[in-house]
Order: sequence, then C-alpha cells, then structure tokens
Amino acid sequence: MSSWPGKLITFEGVDGAGKTTQVLLTAAALEQRGYTVLTTREPGGTRLSEEIRRLLLDPQFSEMAASTEALLYAAARSQLVGEVILPALESGSVVLCDRFVDSSLAYQGYGRGLGLDLLRTVNAFALVGLGAFYTIVIDLQPEQGMRRFATRESDRLEQESVSFHRRVRDGYRALAAAAPERIRVVDGSGTPDAVQARVWAHVAALLEDGEQGAPFGG
Ligand code: TYD
Repeated sequence: MSSWPGKLITFEGVDGAGKTTQVLLTAAALEQRGYTVLTTREPGGTRLSEEIRRLLLDPQFSEMAASTEALLYAAARSQLVGEVILPALESGSVVLCDRFVDSSLAYQGYGRGLGLDLLRTVNAFALVGLGAFYTIVIDLQPEQGMRRFATRESDRLEQESVSFHRRVRDGYRALAAAAPERIRVVDGSGTPDAVQARVWAHVAALLEDGEQGAPFGG
C-alpha cells in the first residue's frame, strides 16, 4: 500500500530522449481525465534546487568531483521532495517528475562509476519520508539523443563523451531489468505522439494498480 493518496511517476532517459515532452503530454492527458497533476523536474523544482542545478550544469566547473556531483544532486532532490513532492502527494495529486533517483544511479553510478549501494544509501537519506513510486524510462540510443541537442549550447553533463552516455543508457536498462515491477521501458524513437501512446499505456495501467514499486526498486 502506498502511504499517501497521490502517486509519483518519474520519467528517465538519456539526454535528448524526449522526457520533458512526454511529461507535458502525460500531464495534459491526465488533466483531461480529471486528475490533479503536478509536474516538476530534477535537478531543480524549488528555489534552492534550481540554484544547485545551476552549479551542477555550469561547464566552467570542470573540476567537480564525482562525489561532489552525486551529493549535490541528492541535496537538490532532498529539498524538492520535502518542499514540493511530499505535500503534493499528501494532497492527492499525481506528481510527474522529469528525472529522479534513477538519474543518479544511471549517471553517477553507471556513467561515473560510483558504487550503486553508496548512491542508494545517500539517496535514502535524501528521500527521508518518501515511499514508493513508478518510473518510465524513455529508451533511445545516446547518439540519437545527442543529435537532438546538437543545435544548442550543451551543459556540463551533455558535454560528456558518447561512451559516457552509452554507459548511462545501458545503466537504465540494467536498472529496469532488475526492477521490472517499478520501471517500465518505452521505445523513445518516432514522433512525440507515437512515444506518448506507448507511455500512456503504462501510465494508465500504473494508475489502475493500487501498488507502487519499492523505492529504488530492488
Ligand atoms: P536535464 O534537466 O534532463 O537536462 P536538460 O534539461 O538539459 O535535458 O538534466 C540535467 C543533467 O543532469 C542531465 O545531463 C542528467 C544529469 N543528472 C545526473 O547526472 N544525475 C541526477 O541525479 C540528475 C537528476 C540529473
């Protein structure tokens, strides 16, 4: 049983996978069906977390240690959970979050090579009070994703190598394989509407199902 009336669904994927578009389309579809929806994003979503985001994504901080990076993402997340996500869930909203804990496992864990157990521990601390949630991974080859942001200035993470982004993508697939009850993988190729049809099939099923996957879904 979930411990609150609302539900949290997180959207994940490599850079350029189209998560943000899918969050917006899913929010519109839910609102049309009468749900109260709150959309937010990571890193960010609060005044403080947006400041942390600025530090994390600024290409001038090339010296940032992987451990610092992991802790800053967790710090931004902790503030977002306490200030925005938990109150919304308590009031019965469906919360759609553009990236969440699995981004840390995929990018800092598989991408940077930090230990997954350590990241789970740090994030368990950061998410004090948050229970279970669902996750949709929009799966796309990193090269395709990178093509989508090639026309604008890239941030510190986007500037990482193709091999880094390949590890991130493989990481998401490994996380999903290990937690199929929580994480659903959706093919991110094709038009936004085609992807939305695939996403919606999962969201509709997840909302009917009263249970939510375990946090970090093992
Ligand atoms: P995002 O907001 O998706 O970037 P954009 O709006 O440019 O698509 O995420 C910013 C970057 O932060 C993205 O490259 C993924 C990375 N990230 C992590 O490495 N770890 C995390 O825990 C999170 C939430 C994001």
